[in-house]
Amino acid sequence: MSDTFYTLRFADETLSLIDQRVLPTTVEYFTCTNSSDVEFAIRDMVVRGAPAIGATAAYGVYFSAKESSSLYESSSPEEFEKAFYATNRFLFDARPTAVNLGWAIERMEKAYITLKGKQIEEILSELLSLADFITEEDVAINKAMGSFGSELIPEGATILTHCNTGALATAGWGTALGVIKTAHRADQSIFVYADETRPRLQGARLTAWELKMAGINSALISDSVAATLIRDGKIDLVILGADRVAANGDVCNKIGTFMLSALCKMYHVPFYSAFPVSTIDFSLATGEQIPIEERDAEEVTHIQGVRVAPTGMNVYNPAFDVTPHEHVTALITEKGVLYPPFDTAIAALKP
Ligand code: MRU
Repeated sequence: MSDTFYTLRFADETLSLIDQRVLPTTVEYFTCTNSSDVEFAIRDMVVRGAPAIGATAAYGVYFSAKESSSLYESSSPEEFEKAFYATNRFLFDARPTAVNLGWAIERMEKAYITLKGKQIEEILSELLSLADFITEEDVAINKAMGSFGSELIPEGATILTHCNTGALATAGWGTALGVIKTAHRADQSIFVYADETRPRLQGARLTAWELKMAGINSALISDSVAATLIRDGKIDLVILGADRVAANGDVCNKIGTFMLSALCKMYHVPFYSAFPVSTIDFSLATGEQIPIEERDAEEVTHIQGVRVAPTGMNVYNPAFDVTPHEHVTALITEKGVLYPPFDTAIAALKP
C-alpha cells in the first residue's frame, strides 16, 4: 500500500480502482458497482498487472454472486449457480494471459462450494471477506518477496526493469519493484533503469511515477536502449515480474521480456523474475501452452491518442512473450528464491 494512492479499495459496496489508463498526468479513481464494471476495468486496463487483476476479479465474483442472489431463494440454488458461473466466465474472459485472474475466480468459486446451502446473506458476506483477504494477503506476499529478493541485489547495483511491477500492479508494494523498493530501504545508492515498455508505456507512465515517489535514483529509457547498456556492462541485474509461470520455470511476462533475457544470457547478466506462487500455472508443463493476448492495433498505431502510423497499416500486437527457463537465473517468490532445476523447485510449491 502506498501513502499517497491506492490501487484498489472496496467500501460501501463500491470497488474503486486508480485509473491506470490516465496516470501519471491525471490521478483519478474508476468506480465499479457491478460485475460488468469490473470486467470492463480489467479488459480496458483501468487495472492491470497480474496480482492486481486477481484481487479485482475476486470483487467481481462477489458482485456476480450479489447480482444473482435473488435467484438463490426465490428460484433455486441451481438457477443461482447457472447465472453465477456464467458471469464468472465473463470475468475470466476479460484478459487471457495473467493466470491470477482465473486463480482468484477459482478461489472464490471454491469458497462458494463450501458455503452452499447456507443463507445467501451469509454466502455474500463470506465471499466479500475472502475478496478482502485476497487483497490484504497480496500485500503481505509482496513484502515477503521483497525481503527474499533484496538479498540478491548487490550494494550499489544498477538494475534494469521492464513494465510496471509496483504497487500499481498489485494490491500494494509490488513484486519486482517491491524487491527494488525493499533493497533501496537498505541501500540508497542503487540505480534503476526503467524501460518505457511500448506500446502501453507502463514503464514511462507507471514505473517512473512510482520510482520518483519512492525517491529511487533512476532513469527512463526507451526499450531499445537496454541492449547497449547490457552489452556495455552497465547493468548488474535485470529484475521484472511475471503474468504466468509454467511448471518448468518458463516465464510469460510483458512483451520485450524475452529479448532482455536473451541479452542477459549472452552477456552473463543475472536475470530474475519475481511473482507470487499464485502466478504459477502448475497445469502447464512449459510456456508454449500459455495463451498470449493480442491487443488492439491502435495501441501501436497511436501514442496517447495521436496517430503515428499510416491509416490502414497492418499491426501485430502481442502483449506478452515467453522467456525460456534456461535464460532465468532465479525466480523470486514469497516462499523463497528458486534456483534451477526449476521444475523440481516449482513442484515443491504445489498447493
Ligand atoms: O499488460 P499488463 O500491464 O497487465 O502487464 C503487466 C505485466 O506484464 C507485469 O510485468 C506482470 O503482471 C507482473 S506485475 C506484478
